[in-house]
Amino acid sequence: MPQPTYAIIAKNLKKSYGKNQVLNGISLKVERGTMLALLGPNGAGKTTTVRILSTLLNFDGGTVTIEGYDVAKEGDAVRAIIGLTGQSAAVDEMLTGRENLIMMGQLYHLSKADARQRAEELLKEFNLVDAASRPLKDYSGGMRRRLDLAVSMIATPPIIFLDEPTTGLDPRSRIAMWGSINRLKESGATILLTTQYLEEADQLADQIVVIDGGKVIAEGTAKELKSTVGKDRLEIIFDNKSAYAAAQEALGSRVLEKNDKDLAVTLMINDTNKDVRSALEILADAKIHFSTMSIHKPTLDDVFLSLTGKSKHDEETA
Ligand SMILES: Nc1ncnc2c1ncn2[C@@H]1O[C@H](COP(=O)(O)OP(=O)(O)OP(=O)(O)O)[C@@H](O)[C@H]1O
Ligand SMILES: [Mg+2]
Repeated sequence: MPQPTYAIIAKNLKKSYGKNQVLNGISLKVERGTMLALLGPNGAGKTTTVRILSTLLNFDGGTVTIEGYDVAKEGDAVRAIIGLTGQSAAVDEMLTGRENLIMMGQLYHLSKADARQRAEELLKEFNLVDAASRPLKDYSGGMRRRLDLAVSMIATPPIIFLDEPTTGLDPRSRIAMWGSINRLKESGATILLTTQYLEEADQLADQIVVIDGGKVIAEGTAKELKSTVGKDRLEIIFDNKSAYAAAQEALGSRVLEKNDKDLAVTLMINDTNKDVRSALEILADAKIHFSTMSIHKPTLDDVFLSLTGKSKHDEETA
């Protein structure tokens, strides 16, 4: 029988806590050997979805199969082929990083010798050799995330769930983590990653499913999602109010948005060369001096804004 193309298939998942329906019919599919990002703000239902997919949580409706195994009926078979890390991972605070890795390796049926060897490889890969003999309770947030990811890789399961692997990391550690996640993917694993970061989904994932309020609100590749919000924009910033006002007058209906605080106007552009040149000509003819000009491609943040009416950035700073 040919292998199914999709390693993970979830259909119409429903889950309530009391009267609070937190998953409202989530469906998603992850092609084998690819990475899907489940993108959504706090409380969207990401962890709930991952816990259901990884057999840790019962659900009220819908179906999930992992490599053809029914999560509700064949939990043991599912658990044998998955690795889980992140907000719900199981590690022992009193054990050292090395001990945690060896313990998890043995749990995944590696021999003690194999578990030890694999642990040393992973400690190196995740730059944890110096911290290997310290108990986990003394680890920093970043070290913890790295150990978490290492733990999920100890037995190289073919399917890996990463629940917000980089939340709370500083930018440098985040980029290092992206490298590790990419290597995980290159090893052939099927990965479902949750994130609140548009940029992360953009950087890592083959496919993106955007959820909000327990529902899928959009899906596609980063490129497809970005194309739904349309064209490039030209932002022109002025260094004084009179130039800013004169520019709005001169550019007229070309102005899509203005920002009084930054003294910036944004124009929608259809044909980059033609539209940028004509905006420059209009400003030059009116003898208006601008300070900077830049072209913005639509970002996933724009997608989020157009889908939910709120920007991810607004939420973070709120
Ligand atoms: N055990 C629980 N009992 C009651 N409500 C819960 C429980 N777990 C989660 N919820 C609720 O379900 C909703 C979805 O939570 P979930 O943890 O799946 O969100 P999330 O997308 O992972 O958010 P975050 O980005 O903050 O991790 C939230 O409103 C949350 O309060
Ligand atoms: Mg969560």
